[in-house]
Amino acid sequence: MNILGISCYYHDSAAALLVDGELVAAAEEERFTRRKHDFGFPSGAIDFCLTQSGLRGEDLDYAVFYEKPLLKFERILLSTLATYPRSYGVFRESMITWFNEKLWIKSQILTKLNLPENKLLFADHHMSHAASAFFCSPYNEAAVLTIDGVGEWTTAAVGRAQALWPGRENGRTENRIELLQEVRFPHSLGLLYSAFTAFLGFRVNNGEYKVMGMAPYGRPTRVEDVYKLIEVGDDGGFRLKMEYFSFHHSTSNTFNRKFIDLFGPPRVHDADFYTPAILRSLAKPGWNEETARVNQHYADIAASVQAVTEEIMLKMARHAHQLSGSKNLCMAGGVALNSVANGRIARETPFERIYIQPAAGDSGGALGAALYAHHVLLGKPRRFVMEHAYWGQSYDAERQQSAVSACGRTFELEPDLDRRASRIVDDLLAGKVIGLYQGRFEWGPRALGNRSILADPRRAEMKDIVNATIKYREPFRPFAPVVLEERAAEYYAGLGDVPNMYPLRYMLMVYPTLDGRGEQIQAVTHEGGTGRLQVVRREWNPLYYRVIELFGQATGVPVLLNTSFNLRGEPIVNTPENALNTFNKSELAALYMDDIIVRK
Ligand SMILES: [Fe+2]
Repeated sequence: MNILGISCYYHDSAAALLVDGELVAAAEEERFTRRKHDFGFPSGAIDFCLTQSGLRGEDLDYAVFYEKPLLKFERILLSTLATYPRSYGVFRESMITWFNEKLWIKSQILTKLNLPENKLLFADHHMSHAASAFFCSPYNEAAVLTIDGVGEWTTAAVGRAQALWPGRENGRTENRIELLQEVRFPHSLGLLYSAFTAFLGFRVNNGEYKVMGMAPYGRPTRVEDVYKLIEVGDDGGFRLKMEYFSFHHSTSNTFNRKFIDLFGPPRVHDADFYTPAILRSLAKPGWNEETARVNQHYADIAASVQAVTEEIMLKMARHAHQLSGSKNLCMAGGVALNSVANGRIARETPFERIYIQPAAGDSGGALGAALYAHHVLLGKPRRFVMEHAYWGQSYDAERQQSAVSACGRTFELEPDLDRRASRIVDDLLAGKVIGLYQGRFEWGPRALGNRSILADPRRAEMKDIVNATIKYREPFRPFAPVVLEERAAEYYAGLGDVPNMYPLRYMLMVYPTLDGRGEQIQAVTHEGGTGRLQVVRREWNPLYYRVIELFGQATGVPVLLNTSFNLRGEPIVNTPENALNTFNKSELAALYMDDIIVRK
């Protein structure tokens, strides 16, 4: 049984392929087209999935699209008509893209895959999200929470799921996901966060992380004002006060005059962000006190919208717990990438185990749609738990070596894993920043050791060095630590049952550092003493684990700085050529590419 899931035309297109219920390949389209957050038809990702499994399109039993286009079309029609003529712009623009592209999704998929019409299925957007988490988890039953910008109509849903594993009840299985309560467009926590993302000078659907990174530099002094925009019930249900927003009738603005009257003028798009605290530790040419003071006001707004988001998510999670009576929580949707809120849900709600898969946003809908079809529509038993994130494409030695030669560089071969690991550690101890490229690239937005840049986290200056010379990105943005799974609790407080907290594997939860520990790993400790840690186990990634283990033996600190292997504004590297391009354009000292070592 071969099932291909597809998501596209909103943001982060992707494809994922199941063979007999087991995931064999999954990738986001941006890695192939090199356009960040590419939302076009995912031809590159589909071709990769088929090639990886040795299948042709016509070998598929089903293709499944991650949402129902006609329901979505209906939502756009009805909601723009409700605000007509103010919404004329949105109406016109969306009609053009719908008639040019989106309404033809069915024939586009069938043509691409050479499939008959009866082999194409559609799943609800939030059902795809829910399935992407639950059917990757090891749980027999769980509470389900999905929160995003918007799907067809739903923007958040709470429910429960169950699926028995074969052999656990005479082999009989009944797989079910029930979304029992929902919030509908235009009331949306994701769109509220995005409105503030735009207000704070970042790109919507791209800069949400930056708002979260900015928040610890501020204090939540504007929480009351944020609550003027949103009414929240005890169960986490909410309604936006639409008189502050324009995303439902404008193509260019997400918030309006009334919003500006409340919060002041928006921050200049992509202007340098630095508060007085940042200015004191890192002064750059052109930076000044006055701008730092103004930025403090924006940081306080970021802290406030982040705090409100966390409060709402906590309420929703507690409600999901009551509704389901389960100790297990499965979360998905773009808002489930809010790793600060996720950490709080883990620490402050009664859930004992949490599952979020690495592509929690819309790219993950491709995987969820395929899983939903396999387990719920077709009723097939479960056989798969997602234990790691390495589902993308890999490239062989020949391709890697010719990529090195093509840019006029030479390489050394070091096939022994232990020796390679100790070479990496020698570099890190010498203060060098290195690229680690191996095997299949990661599924989802995070680099987790196969397309990573590594550095010594003990050196406070490493944060500025990596920001300024490698990543060319804003100095306020934090770097993340990677730590051996069994030693994470020596550094972070309140981790609970680490092996069962799957989001820790995927860098999806932020935790406070233990007293005195933050100072030892300054380059990966964010303002306020927190870290968005990744834990790693030898069986998931032997080389990565060995490097951290050896570094720990040499320094007493089994932690490294890990950031994604890419230049600012580019997707994470995919091919060896992408890796060498980043290596050549940055000040990375060495590139470790499977068995190959390239130096400058
Ligand atoms: Fe979504």
